Amino acid sequence: MDISHIEHIGIAVKDLKEAIPFYENVFGLKCYSIEKVADQKVKTAFFKVGDTKIELLESTDPEGPIGKFIEKKGPGVHHIAFAVNNVNNALAEAEEKGVRLIDKTSRKGAEGLNIGFLHPKSTHGVLTEICGEE
Ligand code: CO
Repeated sequence: MDISHIEHIGIAVKDLKEAIPFYENVFGLKCYSIEKVADQKVKTAFFKVGDTKIELLESTDPEGPIGKFIEKKGPGVHHIAFAVNNVNNALAEAEEKGVRLIDKTSRKGAEGLNIGFLHPKSTHGVLTEICGEE
């Protein structure tokens, strides 16, 4: 898999209205985008940290993936996203190597990127996102 960098780290938060000022005031980062991703039942807020971003995720539906995650584990690190060129190629390669996929093919995520998730049960407990332009 041709990973160029960590694209972002996804962090589940209870309330963006509290989490955004925390990231801005304590870490001096600037929230440059807030976006609803209806498909994933989340509202996201993005901060740049060098080549990597922090993606804060607030649930818009208790039955959505972030709502369930927070109920089970509380707020915290939710996923790591690796940047590749071609997401479908990377997903196919992972599957070929025995990794269980959540997404067999890519779908649209935040910031217009193609994304696909690998199942945490086959990635040593880390929900892993693959994302890229293609
Ligand atoms: Co993500």
